[in-house]
Amino acid sequence: MSADATDEVVLSARNVVKTYGGTQALKGVNFDIHRGRVTTLFGENGAGKSTLMKILSGVERPTSGEIVLHGETVTFQSTVDARDLGISIIHQELSLAPNLSVRDNIFMGRELRTGTGIDFAEEARQTRELMQRLEEDISPSTLVADLRLGQQQIVEIARALSVDARILIMDEPTSALSASEVEVLFKVIEDLKRSGVSIVYISHHLEEALQITDFAVVLRDGSITATADAADIDLEWIVRHMVGAHFSLGEVPTGYEFGPTALSIEAVSVADVENPQRSVVDNLSLEVRAKEIVCIYGLMGAGRTELLEAVAGRVPMTSGRVVLHGTDVSGLPIAGRIAQGLCLVPEDRQRDGLVQTMTVGRNLTLASLGSFVRGLFLSRPSEQRQVQASIADVHVKTEGGGAAIGSLSGGNQQKVVIGKMLATDPQVILLDEPSRGIDVGAKAEVFRLLAERAQAGLAVVYSTSEVGECLSIAHRIVVMRRGRISAEFDADASKEEIMAASGEAVVV
Ligand SMILES: Nc1ncnc2c1ncn2[C@@H]1O[C@H](COP(=O)(O)OP(=O)(O)OP(=O)(O)O)[C@@H](O)[C@H]1O
Ligand SMILES: [Mg+2]
Repeated sequence: MSADATDEVVLSARNVVKTYGGTQALKGVNFDIHRGRVTTLFGENGAGKSTLMKILSGVERPTSGEIVLHGETVTFQSTVDARDLGISIIHQELSLAPNLSVRDNIFMGRELRTGTGIDFAEEARQTRELMQRLEEDISPSTLVADLRLGQQQIVEIARALSVDARILIMDEPTSALSASEVEVLFKVIEDLKRSGVSIVYISHHLEEALQITDFAVVLRDGSITATADAADIDLEWIVRHMVGAHFSLGEVPTGYEFGPTALSIEAVSVADVENPQRSVVDNLSLEVRAKEIVCIYGLMGAGRTELLEAVAGRVPMTSGRVVLHGTDVSGLPIAGRIAQGLCLVPEDRQRDGLVQTMTVGRNLTLASLGSFVRGLFLSRPSEQRQVQASIADVHVKTEGGGAAIGSLSGGNQQKVVIGKMLATDPQVILLDEPSRGIDVGAKAEVFRLLAERAQAGLAVVYSTSEVGECLSIAHRIVVMRRGRISAEFDADASKEEIMAASGEAVVV
């Protein structure tokens, strides 16, 4: 769809500046949202995308500049002000209360009332309706803590939809969704557009975003560097304007000798939490050699997360053994396995990966603290050196090790989780969807870093639902389906055969 004279601008940022201490996150941004259209905001990690969206939805106040709604300057004191004017946001970092039900999360702060109290039945009915619209089988009474990450993201989306917003901001709404869930969301977006809802979309899945966008806007280092009608651009245009250069994800070096077996997963089974009779990982065996990068590909729910968590000691196995360089570590707790050189970069960085109350530096060294203890004391200088090295290694954009972890952009927080685990100097590293929320450049850096570490002897197990990632990083690709390995490929397999083995419908 192209811009024309009938295009109506509903909400704009005018010369918006936002500073946080010494960081200028936005440097005078002009940004328009059009009625009934999808405007996608592209940009590297830390470019200022979330900051701009937080300002347009009342989460944050601009340092200077204006917000103009339907031609009039407005000031939002809070998200409630913005919501009352029809603006709703789906947050990049999920903002749900884990100990409340799905229903209570959706209606928190704007409960439906009967004469005498809260109308729980009506809230539940509307929740079910929203879930039907999103084609998700989630009961209103389920606790959010019991949902997998992708389902929590669906609840976050449902909550934003439930207020019938006229302007809907989606900050990385699909980072934990499966391909079919993304498809459903895109159908919902099309419906919303038809009824005149304006949408801002942010995603590091560039191809996916390009599918639904009408206008593309690129933010770089706090300034808008390019805007275009989606019909006139392609992937290469986006990447070029995002990073200011051409590049490719690169190839993993091949043609070298793998080392001896580093990790043996022997007939491991893991029970389903909700239905213990069922196995989410079913008698699965896999060997990974030193210097080898093995990708585990599969759909959401194939059991990849449960497998990695069991290997790392995070969830119990119902049977089987985990053997690390010939030693059975099945009886060891997480920390014991880390000490033996086996670590996991978990899927959910908010819940498992980071300590929100600590600094960037402390988060980076937390898992490897043991190696900094000299006598009874932490050896500060060597810890500092490690922090600096890790920040440089994974290219974290931060004011320094002393900054609060919450001050980092979403993608940069993810880089800290990866850096933290690499700092433990592991022999085997398990990564569960590690590229979630990181930009194309950072992804290439992480790939390069893993390839380098692999060459030096590290065994890597990399779980992903993106087939492209498997093909650019793996020496070997293992496909998981319903808790088992359904196929194995080497790096020159085709996308289609890998996807077919996962049970995914292959669109040609
Ligand atoms: N509360 C805060 N305190 C200090 N600095 C902050 C805060 N929030 C954001 N920043 C900084 O502002 C800049 C922009 O961050 P923002 O979260 O908007 O990036 P982003 O484009 O959304 O990145 P990503 O793709 O990683 O989500 C970053 O340098 C970030 O560290
Ligand atoms: Mg962001």
